[in-house]
Amino acid sequence: AFDRTPFIAGNWKMNMDHVQGITLLQKLAWTLSDAKHDYSRVEVAAFPPFTDLRGVQTLVQGDDLHIAYGGQDLSQFDSGAYTGDISGQFLNKLGCKYVLVGHSERRTIHNESDEVLNAKVKAAFRHGVVPVLCVGEGLEIRQAGTHVDHTLQQLRAGVAGLTNEQAAELVVAYEPVWAIGTGEVAGPEDAQEMCAAIRSELETLFGADVAAKTRLLYGGSVKGNNAGAILRERDVDGVLVGGASLDPAEFANIVRFES
Ligand code: G3P
Repeated sequence: AFDRTPFIAGNWKMNMDHVQGITLLQKLAWTLSDAKHDYSRVEVAAFPPFTDLRGVQTLVQGDDLHIAYGGQDLSQFDSGAYTGDISGQFLNKLGCKYVLVGHSERRTIHNESDEVLNAKVKAAFRHGVVPVLCVGEGLEIRQAGTHVDHTLQQLRAGVAGLTNEQAAELVVAYEPVWAIGTGEVAGPEDAQEMCAAIRSELETLFGADVAAKTRLLYGGSVKGNNAGAILRERDVDGVLVGGASLDPAEFANIVRFES
């Protein structure tokens, strides 16, 4: 798992107003600085709501924090008559390095199709923001035993038409829907099984050199006490954390999974 820089990301979802968001990030930065965290060894990122991004930018740039941040979604379009949408170019201007694409909550609540998500992945790259493409199966599919096929189908659709350079830079997050916010964490071996399948599919599509670079994350009920075992799996390069990322001490424990 440590051939690639581990990536520990917090998805705040629709939580934390801009004041709470700043406080959370300050506390996280203090905790990590007290613990003398080496940011070159483990990359840390936060995905706040859009309305927090400007405040996060001011804090991160003003205090020179080594915490990356990004949006939780973006428009497939660049600009124009798309009321309520946020363009990748706005995210880029706010200093976002990353953007989540195709979180299961977007796929289900907003009916985002694989085609739209592929357009969003390309829009992110067009604007210099690295997409974190989320894939993963629901409970019925897991019980039917077709979870690998289902997830690889989402992957293939999401990465269609990318260049090798883009595929190497891309981050893919495997989030089994049945493990999100349920306390039902997939076992490290489940995370490894799927991440290995994803890497092998990327190898088929883009070649071994590319597949060796793409970072693959696991997400779903990750906490301080289970992150280490998941992150030690060979093909798991990081975690995408929901609930536990809202508690700075707990999230810092996940970031410091090796110590
Ligand atoms: O994107 C992260 C996520 O969906 C997992 O949420 O609360 O189960 O850690 P949670």
